[in-house]
Amino acid sequence: MTVQTINTTPFSDQKPGTSGLRKRVTVWQQPNYVENYIQAIFDSLEGFAGQTLVIGGDGRFYNDVAIQKAIRIAAANGFGRVLVGQGGLLSTPAASNIIRHYQAFGGLVLSASHNPGGPDGDFGIKYNIGNGGPAPEKITDAVFARSKVIDSYKSEDTPDIDLGTIGTQKVGDMTVEVIDPVTDYAALMQTLFDFDAIRALFAGGFRMTFDAMHAVTGPYAHAILEGILGAPKGTVINGVPSPSFNDGHPDPNLVYCKDMFDLLMTEAGPDFGAASDGDGDRNLIIGKNRFVTPSDSLALLAANAHLAPGYKGGIAGIARSMPTSAAADRVAEKLGIEMHETPTGWKFFGNLLDAGRVTICGEESAGTGSDHVREKDGLWAVLLWLNILAVRKQGVDQIVREHWATYGRNYYTRHDYEEVDAAIANALVDDLRGRLASLPGQVFDGLEVAYADDFTYHDPVDGSTSAKQGIRIGFTDGSRIVLRLSGTGTVGATLRLYLERYEPADGNHDLDTQSALQPLIELCERLAGVKARTQRTEPSVIT
Ligand code: G6P
Ligand code: ZN
Repeated sequence: MTVQTINTTPFSDQKPGTSGLRKRVTVWQQPNYVENYIQAIFDSLEGFAGQTLVIGGDGRFYNDVAIQKAIRIAAANGFGRVLVGQGGLLSTPAASNIIRHYQAFGGLVLSASHNPGGPDGDFGIKYNIGNGGPAPEKITDAVFARSKVIDSYKSEDTPDIDLGTIGTQKVGDMTVEVIDPVTDYAALMQTLFDFDAIRALFAGGFRMTFDAMHAVTGPYAHAILEGILGAPKGTVINGVPSPSFNDGHPDPNLVYCKDMFDLLMTEAGPDFGAASDGDGDRNLIIGKNRFVTPSDSLALLAANAHLAPGYKGGIAGIARSMPTSAAADRVAEKLGIEMHETPTGWKFFGNLLDAGRVTICGEESAGTGSDHVREKDGLWAVLLWLNILAVRKQGVDQIVREHWATYGRNYYTRHDYEEVDAAIANALVDDLRGRLASLPGQVFDGLEVAYADDFTYHDPVDGSTSAKQGIRIGFTDGSRIVLRLSGTGTVGATLRLYLERYEPADGNHDLDTQSALQPLIELCERLAGVKARTQRTEPSVIT
């Protein structure tokens, strides 16, 4: 076997977004597209000769092809060992754990998360560093710069590697170890949660349904929920990963999990419903008659984390992305711990977690996690909820209501306008940005603007600055409008509007969310003109 150096020409569009490079499969299928990107990543790193690289993905279409290329390029570039999940599978949080557990140099996570898969769907590649988390902007910027000038890549000339059998083989001078994707992750979960209490909960007749959405969490959920924790067979549905996610959209929200939601709203339904996305890092939590918004879930998990053995000493601090509601801030305030507001993207939590300044992090986009790995973790959130339910011996609805009665309720919604013409979306944001300075002090329908800015994050750990992270307009009563462009869309631009209103502990917590936020929704339209300028009558998705 020999190392080949193959000439190539650069692509201009290999700029990593919020979470790695995500493109249509047809884009990745262009000759050398995968090779260029992986070589650009390796060219942006130093000191990996002889080190370990973790590779795994969510099993979507093109995973198998890209993994073979990745292993060949890793071998030719001098990595000493690759750890790869059997069948090429690793959930994103499991990949993060494996990088940390085996002290790997880094890892390649092959996924487009919750985006649809299949030949017409999306594919993605993300590089994670040695702490197990997504590469910081310093690295992703370097990868993009390199991708624009790359003129060759290295590849080991070798037949396809067998990823179906657990064991060790050689590719050139590099060792390839095919490992079970679930074992290490399940062991980690056992150290964090009171599995006996959760087992007793199921044994006592508690019923849940977990929708793996034909994606990567199927094997993990079968093994942990039905295997180790003794939940009845059938608790996990859609548990066999499929390259096209059975032609579905593996995003655990109320649109794509509507059937589960409807079931949980009936008396005959189970006590608890949950789901995870394509690569296993997002979560959806629904109790009987109670959907828990991701922002509320973050606050609730932070407030109750001490009930799980892994967090019994308390948590050091909480971090949330800027558009996530301020519900968690009130918990941090009461606990007297640090609270951090970061830009959208899990990578921004990495430094805070590494420095031990925060223990629990969360985003409105259905991501919650802790310092156990450096990615958000869907099953972790589900298990923490189960641990809390088992200890408190209350239902989700009761726990949520008691939380609001203590901290108040942050009514919250997100309106997405997808596949908007990029020029229109950019102009809209630029215009609004230009008017921000004039807003503070102005009163609109009784709402006084307290501040208006484009969020700039100053990382308190490494001192780096990230500007233009989203427009925030805050009002004196605690309400807030946030507007930003998604960094994960693959076609046109996606405009996201985030609306939030605070209702105190003794206020009315039973309003319909959209009605409670209607005045803010109208004001947002007045200020930004999203419907008028995009010529849409309503959002593509409301969460
Ligand atoms: C991915 C990232 C998250 C992010 C989400 C939404 O899931 O891992 O950190 O919150 O995308 O990002 P977007 O830029 O589309 O709002
Ligand atoms: Zn995901």
